[in-house]
Amino acid sequence: MIIEPNTSLVSYTTFGVNVQSKYFVQVHTSSDVRDIVTHELWQQEKHYVIGGGSNILFTQDFDGIIVFNNLKGKKVVEETDEYTIIDVASGENWHEFVVWSSERNLWGIENLALIPGTIGASPVQNIGAYGVEVEEVIESVTCINLVSGKQEMFTHDQCNFGYRDSIFKQHPGKYFVTSVRYKLSKIPRINIEYGAIVDKLAEQNITSPSTQDMVRVVSLIRQSKLPNVGEIGMAGSFFKNPIISEEHAHTLLQQFPDLKYFPLDNGFVKISAGWIIDNLGYKGVQDGNVGTYYKHALVLVNYGNATGSEVWEFAQKIIRQTHDVFNITLEPEVIIL
Ligand code: EPU
Repeated sequence: MIIEPNTSLVSYTTFGVNVQSKYFVQVHTSSDVRDIVTHELWQQEKHYVIGGGSNILFTQDFDGIIVFNNLKGKKVVEETDEYTIIDVASGENWHEFVVWSSERNLWGIENLALIPGTIGASPVQNIGAYGVEVEEVIESVTCINLVSGKQEMFTHDQCNFGYRDSIFKQHPGKYFVTSVRYKLSKIPRINIEYGAIVDKLAEQNITSPSTQDMVRVVSLIRQSKLPNVGEIGMAGSFFKNPIISEEHAHTLLQQFPDLKYFPLDNGFVKISAGWIIDNLGYKGVQDGNVGTYYKHALVLVNYGNATGSEVWEFAQKIIRQTHDVFNITLEPEVIIL
């Protein structure tokens, strides 16, 4: 384990903003994680763990230690006629695991194809797409507590999952996820709740999709509206879809009859942040070095050599206008540091 001083983070986040971290360390094993946690610098400096860097925006240099997660490996820990449980190291790439599972006809995560990032980020963010959230297949999460240096295991219920939320997100900097256990089904569990998936399957004349068909179809849908990682500086959806009261939604609908909304079971309504930002006239705009993607207004983009603070200023402009016009406070989905 080598602690490097003054390291550029430009190639470690998908936004591609150039900031420096005071110290940078790559960890390859759980024992590397324990070594850094017990190092003298750990007590003196602030620290943050990054994986794929696809859900983070640095708005300034990081005055502390960035730990880059490079833990690799996966193993099947239990197998029956109905399911397989796999323990996956947190530095593994998420999409590669989706493909690996689909090749083995294991169901549960095929709708989450092409989501950027690592295994470690999947429970932290409770990643979700096309009617599926990863928590549905998470059995447990193993972490190193960065305060005590001890290993801790969280069962599914202890993870306190919510929409793009978990105990790990609620306590930033407290836990380093080392591995995640997923329980995937051998029995087909096709989730075609989303109209876009139904349409794409019909277009391809697929009536009884395999896991691999689902991965292909979901990938086609995502690629039709979201940029690929590496194509352009961005971090997926920048904001969460806001959740408002039915009353508030009712008022908005009178003014905006084509507002995109999804009623939830609890008397609240989820509003499409992409639609809001688009409606404010922001789809595909460029403002200096920053802007939004031309096919999806929820994706903020670094069009050149934007700094993180330029991206954040642009985001704040959108937050202010959304508040003024819709009386809604948008919250970033991306972690802002
Ligand atoms: N829309 C617009 N204009 C836009 C973008 C979207 O009008 O510029 C409308 C669309 O027409 C659609 C609605 O907004 O009716 C919703 O759009 P979409 O289906 O693309 O989904 P989303 O709510 O914007 C969420 C996730 C995505 C995930 C998709 C698919 C959040 C914050 N985002 O996006 O996740 O892939 O659903 O399930 O929940 C991510 O987290 O980085 C991410 C990309």
